[in-house]
Amino acid sequence: MSDGLAQGLEGVIAAHTVLSDVDGAHGRLVIRGYAVEDLAGHTPFEQAAHLLFDGFFDDLPADLAPALGAARVRAFAEVGALDEGLARRDPVEAMRALLARLPDGDDLATALLLLAAPAVLTPAVLRVAAGQAPVAPDPALSHAADILRMTRGQPATEAEARALDAYLVTVCDHGLNASTFAARVIASTRAGLTSAVLGGISALKGPLHGGAPGPVIDMLDAIGTPENARPWLEQALARGDRLMGFGHRIYRVRDPRADALKAAVRRLSGASGTLPGRVAFAEAVEQAALQILRERKPDRPLDTNVEFYTALLLEALGLPPASFTCVFAMGRTAGWIAHAREQLAGGKLIRPQSVYVGPGVRQAA
Ligand code: ACO
Repeated sequence: MSDGLAQGLEGVIAAHTVLSDVDGAHGRLVIRGYAVEDLAGHTPFEQAAHLLFDGFFDDLPADLAPALGAARVRAFAEVGALDEGLARRDPVEAMRALLARLPDGDDLATALLLLAAPAVLTPAVLRVAAGQAPVAPDPALSHAADILRMTRGQPATEAEARALDAYLVTVCDHGLNASTFAARVIASTRAGLTSAVLGGISALKGPLHGGAPGPVIDMLDAIGTPENARPWLEQALARGDRLMGFGHRIYRVRDPRADALKAAVRRLSGASGTLPGRVAFAEAVEQAALQILRERKPDRPLDTNVEFYTALLLEALGLPPASFTCVFAMGRTAGWIAHAREQLAGGKLIRPQSVYVGPGVRQAA
């Protein structure tokens, strides 16, 4: 546009970052020098968070696991404020309301408490909503294993904990996505890490960002059989609906996180009796969707994004679709915190401009 407006800030560069590089043309995601597929399933979430935090906190311990375990215990204190009315709200709203009780700060203790909070508060919200007592954290467990134990009230298998761990690492950071940008804008005002994370959660919640995987399950359930995939998807597009789990602002080819998660779903299938049928069905829906999108939108390369296999993986772990955005936040909080610290260290107040297109100056009545 002649006045320089970039709709949706598409193509605008708003930060330098050492944290992650999203290469949309080649479908590559690099997190602090490591390809996402080399981290997910190989590096525990605690280490991935350490990788992101490194250089942003002077007192970062060499091993983040014990400190994060202790932070889970501290975060559990907020569960006291959870009543049945709050637990009945959308889980991301309830989790966000509890997290908002934490004080603002910029230090490592605040960062760890914020990293622990979605992981501890979400299981409590889900359990109270189901009429069950919250389960306290076990600081000795891995973050992923403890999340599953707190959610389900019984220990997770090693394969399940590995699968959730791979998910949390896959989504821990992703360039200047909408929620990370929101977190950086807030950090640039020096409001503090809690405010930045709350802003991140609020931006993540929308269906065009981290709210997509729940609707992916709704779509798969509504389609029901592989034969129904094509007619159902065609009808959805004819209504003007978007196919959830497809398309991306930056990727013009397949989102590399989709494959990292597909690999995790497949690994989990090996350890479970029931999953392969669901995976095969989802793959049939995916193929039908890709074919139809290519026919309908030949000029706009639309491919599978992270949310499609997120939905399958989290469903296979027995997590309810309503909680998927909260689980996304459990991983992405690491990125929000690192970006907030990076913004604070070198950044100026983020304050763009708008072009006024309203009425000319007029006389007040
Ligand atoms: N299904 C059908 N059509 C689509 C889809 C889709 N999933 N995605 C984009 N399109 C179409 C749009 O309708 C538009 O068509 P038009 O030019 O004929 O109007 C064209 O492709 C371009 O779409 P934009 O909205 O301009 O592209 P943008 O980069 O803003 O959108 C987005 C990216 C929001 C992710 C989009 O692809 C979408 O809505 N996908 C579905 C929701 C989803 O899966 N979100 C999760 C994204 S991953 C993440 O945030 C973690």
